[in-house]
Amino acid sequence: MLGSRWDLLPRVFAPVHTDSTELFTQWLPFPVGGSFLEVGCGAGVTAVTAAMAGCERVTASDISSDAVVNAGLNAARHGVADRVRVQRSDLFDALEPGERFDLVFWNSNVVWAPEDFVYSRQVQYAIFDRDYAAHQRYLCQGLARLTGVGRLFLGFNSLGDAGRLDSLASQAGVRVIERRCEARRAGDVAVTFRLLEITGMHDRRTV
Ligand SMILES: C[S@@+](CC[C@H](N)C(=O)[O-])C[C@H]1O[C@@H](n2cnc3c(N)ncnc32)[C@H](O)[C@@H]1O
Repeated sequence: MLGSRWDLLPRVFAPVHTDSTELFTQWLPFPVGGSFLEVGCGAGVTAVTAAMAGCERVTASDISSDAVVNAGLNAARHGVADRVRVQRSDLFDALEPGERFDLVFWNSNVVWAPEDFVYSRQVQYAIFDRDYAAHQRYLCQGLARLTGVGRLFLGFNSLGDAGRLDSLASQAGVRVIERRCEARRAGDVAVTFRLLEITGMHDRRTV
């Protein structure tokens, strides 16, 4: 993928089944010399590519311990373990209070699950977000993790509930701007992948 070979452990989101990882990794504006936080890093393809592209400080975090191990393997495989920190975290919870990044991104678990859904396997976090609670927290807490020049992105797709996302964004007082969009297929299913930027309601950077 992306011209490189990658380790992929069992029970980790497999970036080969849809084009999401590849597209978002190609679309993101990695800050050369700057800092990048990948929330929900999975196998770490995006985080490691960012480090290889010149990001100086990369944090790759995931709620799944298997994913954290996998991202560490890929950082080592590509010789960037010195600048990719891997950590287990539920969204921003494991970060130090003052930590800020020039770019924050999550290729999220877009499929809405009902409030009584029970996660029985770690890999289910890659697909389902119970009551969109994690999306709500990402929208509410993400901007506070940015440096002065920082940008906050969400990788979304048409298998998710865009109406629900928009309504959570208005409740959070943030704006969602589509930066890139492409229709592809995932097996037999047509999926449109969307790179969304989250900004403050009065942020003038709308183009
Ligand atoms: C669609 S997968 C994307 C994986 C990887 N970024 C990629 O593009 O190949 C979503 C990832 O988000 C992680 N995730 C889900 N909920 C999370 C949460 N609350 N905090 C951190 N990571 C989470 C999942 O474990 C999964 O690895």
